[in-house]
Amino acid sequence: MSHLAARLPLFPITTTVQDRGAGPVLCVGGCDLAALAAAFGTPLYVYDQATLDAAADAYCAAGRAYPGDFAVTFAGKALLMTAAAQWVDRQGFWLDCTGAGELAIAAAAKMDPARILVHGVNKSEDDLRAALTQAAVIVVDNLTELEHIVALASNAPRLPDLWLRVRPGVAVDTHSYRQTGQHDSKFGMDPTEIEQAVALALATRLPLTGLHFHQGSQFFDPSPLLPALDLVLELAQMLRARYGWTMQVLSPGGGWGVAYHEDELPQPAIADYVTLIAQHVRAGCAQRGLPLPRLQLEPGRSLVARGGVALYRVGAVKQTPHRRWLLIDGGMADNPRPALYGARYSALPVHAPDRPAHSPAWLAGPYCESGDVLIEALPLPELAPGELVALPASGAYHLNMGSNYNGARKPAVVWVRDATAYLVQRRERVQDLTARDLLPEWE
Ligand SMILES: Cc1ncc(COP(=O)(O)O)c(C=O)c1O
Repeated sequence: MSHLAARLPLFPITTTVQDRGAGPVLCVGGCDLAALAAAFGTPLYVYDQATLDAAADAYCAAGRAYPGDFAVTFAGKALLMTAAAQWVDRQGFWLDCTGAGELAIAAAAKMDPARILVHGVNKSEDDLRAALTQAAVIVVDNLTELEHIVALASNAPRLPDLWLRVRPGVAVDTHSYRQTGQHDSKFGMDPTEIEQAVALALATRLPLTGLHFHQGSQFFDPSPLLPALDLVLELAQMLRARYGWTMQVLSPGGGWGVAYHEDELPQPAIADYVTLIAQHVRAGCAQRGLPLPRLQLEPGRSLVARGGVALYRVGAVKQTPHRRWLLIDGGMADNPRPALYGARYSALPVHAPDRPAHSPAWLAGPYCESGDVLIEALPLPELAPGELVALPASGAYHLNMGSNYNGARKPAVVWVRDATAYLVQRRERVQDLTARDLLPEWE
């Protein structure tokens, strides 16, 4: 199989190769990627609306198999900007915001506050106050936070529902930096703490409605979800018997994986993940005499990663004793994932993407770190300075995790739909880099 055929399934579903007069070129959503790079500059992030919608539809379709209420929360940490929040709102999904900053983005997008929930492992006073006024749900991470909410609640005009974050003691199989469910994790409460939290919430008449857990991100094997679901259902059964408290919502988090590299294809099916959870919750509730809770999943990357493509321009080509370096104009400042936890990516040239690969290439960014390498040893054709490369599966945890390292300006973002490109976030300017600076009056 050619590299083009092997890598295309990593790209948005609308990706095609078309010849519009200047030779074959990659197109996404009916837009020529070379033309987008010429119009908006590089690095450029391109989001394909059709791919995002298809992932959203896959969640909704699979959720219909659950006999109770089913809802989807988009984990805003994966991608948050006004256009993304508006897309979430249009889908009728909930939006998970981590703290006051993300809540402000949701407000700018006029996201329906009835579908906003707030996460955070150490929410600040500002985060909690913003959550109390802007959110429909706060997911409480620990007992100290709950006590803090009790103290703030008496002055709050209205109270959001509260869910408690359970630490199930089982993580999914993924990089240790992306595991969150294990006994030793910094996230959530163990069953004993959950019981204390329920007692406190009931004694102080807080609106406690749900239990939540998240075991980690980018997993392909959903089996660790089953013992975690069992543990939470057992807990719910005990809390109902002992305190008369009924779990109205169960959220088993998100984390379902996506293929970033051709070695990880075929794309994991969203339906497999949702169906397994839905069936297990249904059977587990029946077995324990529990009413069916609303099942609320919390995916991030599986909704948006495949919809995003990062475009870079090759600046220089360098041969060292063992490597062919393609030096591109973006890297760890817009995508820290390879440097953070060794994430692997693939790529195609934008022009003539079906050229045979001539040898492995290392794609490195312009930043002053040897770890600023986005791709290692990927077979690619000979690429000359000035050529464009497209990295698929770039839609999640790039832009939100980016930095201004070495004075990098955050890339522009365009959304493509029906052969039209909409600029939804402009490129940062040099003036933005000093916008927060003050000139102290030195002696
Ligand atoms: C609490 C919580 N929910 C959901 C997610 C979404 O994970 P993913 O983007 O892998 O689906 C995360 C990711 O870190 C998370 O921490």
